[in-house]
Amino acid sequence: MERASTRVELRRLLTERGAGRVALVPTLGALHAGHLALLEAAKAEGATVVLSVFVNPIQFDSPRDLVRYPRRLAEDARLATPYTDLLFAPAIEEVYPPGYATYLDPADTGAEGRARPGHFRGVATVVLRLLRLVEPDVVYFGLKDARQLAVVRRLVADLALPVTVRAVPVVRDPDGLALSSRNERLMPDEREQALELPRALLAARDASDPVAAASRALAVAPGVELEYVEVVELAEGSQLTAAVRVGAVRLLDAVPLA
Ligand code: PAF
Repeated sequence: MERASTRVELRRLLTERGAGRVALVPTLGALHAGHLALLEAAKAEGATVVLSVFVNPIQFDSPRDLVRYPRRLAEDARLATPYTDLLFAPAIEEVYPPGYATYLDPADTGAEGRARPGHFRGVATVVLRLLRLVEPDVVYFGLKDARQLAVVRRLVADLALPVTVRAVPVVRDPDGLALSSRNERLMPDEREQALELPRALLAARDASDPVAAASRALAVAPGVELEYVEVVELAEGSQLTAAVRVGAVRLLDAVPLA
């Protein structure tokens, strides 16, 4: 696996490889099996796989979360090696050069956007910057962040960007919890409580009103503080999504509605 930290290096390496079709998997790093599933899907389509690792400061809710976000590039590189051709880990100045002043402000960001003002402005802006820096043919996102996927699809359509957006199903631990870099911050009893999130969503799928059914279940789940339940419409089908807090940890999940 080769590495680049600037656009110029990246383009040189891609040209030297005669890269052909390029697939980008954008991440914040702290990779887990959910990210590896994105990389594996990109590899399976025969593309040159570029993994970007960039902790995007403008999408974090608080300076504390930004500081606390795990940074472990060496471990990320080790995990990604079997599926990745090029690791792109740009410095902040590469993504937002001095004087940078252009931000995207998606209008339709649903309950997740209302819960995290400014978050999708940061996500949309960095995704556009990464697409410009890497110039991939295809870009991969996870279905767990269903609203993020919807926002990115809208952005790609509205700006007529020449890239295909692909989605990969949620990866779960054997007990059902969706993988997230935040799971490692759950205490053992909190992890047990967090299982109510996937359980409530799965149980609500066949209800006449899945949002109401999941909201009722999560509202009374011990140790769980419900933020919202909502349906996100995607080309892959409707996704029943929810955000909760368990202790200090905010968790998202999404399950497809039949
Ligand atoms: O989902 C993420 O990891 C991030 O929001 C993304 C898409 C890499 C943008 O920073």
